[in-house]
Order: sequence, then C-alpha cells, then structure tokens
Amino acid sequence: MITVDAAIGTRELKPDIGTVVEADVATLLSGTAAGDIRALLEERSVLVFPGLGFDDQRQIAFTQTLGVQAFENNGVPQANGEKQAIFKVSLDPSVNPIGEYLKTSFFWHLDGTMHEVPILASLLSARHLPPEGGATEWANTFAAYDALPASDKAALEGLRVVYANWALQRFVNPEPSYEAFAAARSVPAREHPLVWKHRSGRNSLVIGSTAAYVVGMEAADSMDLLVRLRDWATQPQFVYRHEWKVGDLVMWDNTGTLHRAIPYDGASGRLLHRTMLQGEEPIA
Ligand SMILES: [Fe+2]
Repeated sequence: MITVDAAIGTRELKPDIGTVVEADVATLLSGTAAGDIRALLEERSVLVFPGLGFDDQRQIAFTQTLGVQAFENNGVPQANGEKQAIFKVSLDPSVNPIGEYLKTSFFWHLDGTMHEVPILASLLSARHLPPEGGATEWANTFAAYDALPASDKAALEGLRVVYANWALQRFVNPEPSYEAFAAARSVPAREHPLVWKHRSGRNSLVIGSTAAYVVGMEAADSMDLLVRLRDWATQPQFVYRHEWKVGDLVMWDNTGTLHRAIPYDGASGRLLHRTMLQGEEPIA
C-alpha cells in the first residue's frame, strides 16, 4: 500500500481494483500529485475522479502532467495540420465518423494489442450520458494472473498469441462479406506473449477480443484456452463497473486491464472524451 500526499484523498472501491481520488482541480493541474497518481494507477488499475467537470483544455493539461500524451491516429496530423488530442467516444456517426466501429468496445479488450508498445493509460471524461446503459467495466488482469493455480501459470509459460483486427471484427460482423473480411485483415496483426512479464516484475494476461489464436495450438483448443482465461479474468472480484455521471473522469492502466462498455443506444447522445498516455514498454 503506497502512501499519498495529503493533497489528495483516496478511497478503495473493491479490494482488487479501483480507487476514488478526491482532489481539487488546481492540485491536479499543477502536477504536484502526478507521482502519487502514477503510483496509485500502477497499484489500483482504475482511478475515478468524480465530478471534475474538465473541459478539453484541462483534460489535456492534466494528461500531460502524468506522462507523454499519445495522440489519436498514431499521431498523424489532421487536415488542419494539428495532431488530434481528444477522441470523441460516440457511436453517432455525426459526432464520430468511425462511430459504428466503436461497437467493438462492447467486448472485453485492451487497446493497442496490434502495436509493439500499447498505450499506457486512457483518461475518459463524461460529457453527455444516456438515460440507461453505457456504464464502463474494467477487469484487473494482474490480479487475475496472480490468482491462477500454479499449474495454469506453468501451462501458459512460453505461449504466444496472434492479435488481429479480423478477429475483433467478428464480434460485430460474424458473417462478413469477403470484401469486409479482407478489409479487416489488411490491418497488420501482431504476435505477443500471452503473459506479459512487465519490467516491474508483475505479470498480466494479454487476452480479449483481439486475441485471434494461440500460436501452434489446434483451433478448438486455442479457443478453449482464450475463452477460459477471459471468463476467469472477468469474474466479479477482478471487475469494477463505473456508472457514469456527467463530469466524472476515469483513468485506467491499459497494460494490466481489460475494459468494455455496457451496450447503449447509438442515438442516446452518450459522449465521452478520451485522452491517452504513450506506452512505456513493449509486451514481452
Ligand atoms: Fe478500448
């Protein structure tokens, strides 16, 4: 258990995941609590800042106190020449042109498994909310790995998995046209170890909807293992569900969690604004 500066107050949500952080906006934007917040994030996986009411400028400023901000579209500048600092999480195509694609967010995943270095963390702030649905859940994959029986840990040693967009897209389009399948497959897939051995010495499970298959394993056995591990990691004791209120900001450690949105109506007006922190180590 780390001790934090008196400028911020903390309260644990569940034994294995989630802490509420109470702090005034000036403290958060000054960066004086950034070291404590990073340490808490590492230990607790999900940090909830209730009712902060950040606008984009403040959300970006806070993000940049915590590490190097990762820009959207891998940092490729937009038409106006600026990098995209804020991503609007909305299923409404008039708000977000790739809104339809975000239906994949209804299924357990971590971000960036098709990259060598996944993002370290995301920060989401709630701007508009639907009357029902649209909560977000996170599962702690460090705690899930730690709780596995020793025989399972031994069996996972050395296993590698291919993570692929075509596997992810099957969740929202189970019977794609060949054209749709080929388009999904054109995104480069990537192979990583199933168990991420972090530089900190902790291990996490790299699973979820982008995990296509375990290398060298028969198809049904591969699916058997991936489904069993996802079921294991998303048991209630490893999961925190956040019921959003407008103004809340939640940040999570993307390297040791899975997340998903609880399905909601795309026309409901649900809108969250996201910023991200650049990853600091490859999955290895
Ligand atoms: Fe995501």
